[in-house]
Amino acid sequence: MQPSADTLRATIRKALQDQQEGTVTVLSSLLAIEDAIGYIPPEGIEAVAELAHCSENDVWGVASFYPNFRFEPPCDHVVEVCWGPTCHLLGAPNVIKEVLASVGLSSEGDTPDKRISVKFNTCLGACAQAPVMSIDHHLAGRLTPQKARRRMDDLSPAPAHR
Ligand code: FES
Repeated sequence: MQPSADTLRATIRKALQDQQEGTVTVLSSLLAIEDAIGYIPPEGIEAVAELAHCSENDVWGVASFYPNFRFEPPCDHVVEVCWGPTCHLLGAPNVIKEVLASVGLSSEGDTPDKRISVKFNTCLGACAQAPVMSIDHHLAGRLTPQKARRRMDDLSPAPAHR
């Protein structure tokens, strides 16, 4: 279920306020919103423009330059599969193949029923446990294609809470 417009605005405001002073930029603000709610809604663009004293078009310019930003709410579950160098060497290509096959996708993206978003990541920061994936922000390491498939099969249809 999507939050109300007021809740969404409050969450965005808090994400922007929680940034460390001195390092606040349009990009850091967009990242803070994406971290907090998983995407950049129009309300986020508006809030960043106000904070940075620039136009919404300027903020869209920055946001649209980076392919990793989402502009629509993420699916119920977000699965990130690492394809960084360490994971790659230790078997990530077959893990990725299995994860995509388990949800019927041919590359990263959202399932048509909006249940699962699959994204590739260049390093999930857990190289010692490679190959690694993250499911709703919980890491799973030392994967084999079979283990990855079981993790995917375990995803319940109920929405995850961020
Ligand atoms: S390369 Fe995969 S976690 Fe670092």
